[in-house]
Amino acid sequence: MIPKQTIDEIFEAAIIEDVVGEFVPLKKRGANFLGNCPFHNEKTPSFTVSPAKGIYKCFGCGKAGNAINFVMEHEHYSYPEALKFIARKYNIEIEEEELTDEQKEAADERESLYIVSNYAANYFKKQLHESDEGKAIGLSYFLERGFREDIIDKFQLGYNPDDWTAFTDEAEKAGHNLKYLDKSGLSIVKEDKKFDRFKGRVIFPIHNLSGRVLGFGGRILKSEDKAAKYLNSPESDIYSKSKVLYGIYYAKKAISKEDICYLVEGYTDVISLYQSGVENVVSSSGTSLTEGQIRLIKRFTPNITILFDGDAAGIKASFRGIDMILQEGMNVRVVLFPDGEDPDSYAKNHSTEELKEYITSNAQDFIRFKTSVLIEDVGDDPIKKAELVKDIVGSIAIIPDQIKRSVYTKECSSLLGIPEQALINETNKILRQHFSKKTNQPAPEVIEEYTPISEEKQEDSGSDLEHWEKDTIRLLINYGDKTIEVESINEDEETVLEKVSAALYIISSINNDKITFENETYQKVFNFYAEKINEDKLPSHQDFINNPDQEISQLAINIFSNKHELSPNWENHKIFTVTEDKQLKKAVINTLYAFKLSKLTQLILKNQEQLKIEASEEAHLQLLQEQVGLQQIKKRIAAKLGRIILK
Ligand code: CTP
Ligand code: MN
Repeated sequence: MIPKQTIDEIFEAAIIEDVVGEFVPLKKRGANFLGNCPFHNEKTPSFTVSPAKGIYKCFGCGKAGNAINFVMEHEHYSYPEALKFIARKYNIEIEEEELTDEQKEAADERESLYIVSNYAANYFKKQLHESDEGKAIGLSYFLERGFREDIIDKFQLGYNPDDWTAFTDEAEKAGHNLKYLDKSGLSIVKEDKKFDRFKGRVIFPIHNLSGRVLGFGGRILKSEDKAAKYLNSPESDIYSKSKVLYGIYYAKKAISKEDICYLVEGYTDVISLYQSGVENVVSSSGTSLTEGQIRLIKRFTPNITILFDGDAAGIKASFRGIDMILQEGMNVRVVLFPDGEDPDSYAKNHSTEELKEYITSNAQDFIRFKTSVLIEDVGDDPIKKAELVKDIVGSIAIIPDQIKRSVYTKECSSLLGIPEQALINETNKILRQHFSKKTNQPAPEVIEEYTPISEEKQEDSGSDLEHWEKDTIRLLINYGDKTIEVESINEDEETVLEKVSAALYIISSINNDKITFENETYQKVFNFYAEKINEDKLPSHQDFINNPDQEISQLAINIFSNKHELSPNWENHKIFTVTEDKQLKKAVINTLYAFKLSKLTQLILKNQEQLKIEASEEAHLQLLQEQVGLQQIKKRIAAKLGRIILK
């Protein structure tokens, strides 16, 4: 835990152009700095840094943030890692808050495992490059496989001598405790015996996101051996297979930049593709994909392409795992390599251009791929076909995005020769089951409706509400500190004009009507502001931009950076639009009414849905009464909205 005071100190010290400038060449442009965006490929710079606001914003890809966010985004650091990075830069000492004895012990234990793993990686590397046995057996094996020396170095490949205790003895001599050699799995300790797990194997170290060694894979060299081709480190306090992807440390930059991640089966596939210039590649090391691994990829891109061996018997078995990727809302594509080839062998026998061309021209959408694979087994057996439909619809139903779902439904309708409405009915069945399971309530009759995707979304769908919620928050953050003149009633019950802050007006208006935000982040910002107002304070822009709550700060940054001053084109245009400030009162009142109106519309819709499924007479009556009441309020507000006239 970094103490709050130190965090404040770090935020104060961080000079945005300084921090960003460490990674991106910046040129002064008026009050701002301009550079090429590090988060997407661009030729004309649209990445802007505003020293006054303490934020950056790319007008090409839309990424925006403060100094801490920049380091997090660019280096893929966690929040505390980014804070520590900046603290180091400005020589701010971090005294971490006291840990409990238990926490300390666990931290020490983990640290010891990291240390011993790091020692082992260096030892294996040294053996590979410097010992006669390592060179003759290990290094020559890698070179024969076609790995270049620079790639062998980069991936820190190594060799464990073919001797029962070579590594264990050396490690103990260097002062490493047998307890940690055992816990890390590098040595196997049984009563009074101990020996090297990776004896006589070439070594692939496995790194975490920031490049620390967590564990190892070791490949056997003698092909006649009955022993497993690969041995891997066992689970430990630092190595959890389900949360690690082999190669992620080397791939993360390219994954962000290319906005796609290739997933392969093995260590050697990763290395070969990387050597061929396809650097955005990781492997789940032979096991089926886990949720943790998917989330790891999702931090960098929503796009995954899975590269399958030509003879992969496990393709069908992998379908379940792939459904999990869909469930995360990610876009999944699949590439099948020619029979008998895997990415490793293909990369070796083809040029970089051919490899890249093969991947891009053979990538197919996963649902289409799954349909075409499964339909081969169906023939004209109607029972099998029905099962197939259920299976495919199952994959479609778990996709969170409704638009994507309807695109797939359309496509599968024509692939399977089944009417779209039938697929939608089937989807509804599954969605209803999910609904009931999640909420423990009976589901509404219809969840998915048939909406031709080409048509505009219907009005009243509630998406309006999101817009007005956001607009309310935008006004609050941008202009909360400005005063507006409003009518109020004084002690003598006379209507008078009074100057108040826009924030006070917005907050009391919303609180008076007991309205809440659907969007949790907006609600958080609102609460934060309301608390300050309660203490008679007005929060500053910095309070938002540097808010310790990442959601609040990110939202605020997006809102501030959309104000026109940050635009790089600002100076060229020399046009000053009528600013919102002048019309602030009008904007505030209109937005508040529109917000309340769409909130009511939504409540009415929800009430109507409830009416459809509510069975008991009594509850029905209650709901109907509510419905009438809501409609009346709606009418009142709608009438007011039309009548707003301001001087
Ligand atoms: N694997 C494993 N244990 C095994 C076999 C395989 O952990 N006994 C994992 C390894 O991570 C391996 C991956 O599954 O990289 C894929 O297996 P395979 O295709 O057999 O290995 P390759 O990576 O192709 O290795 P090579 O090219 O050296 O045969
Ligand atoms: Mn292979």
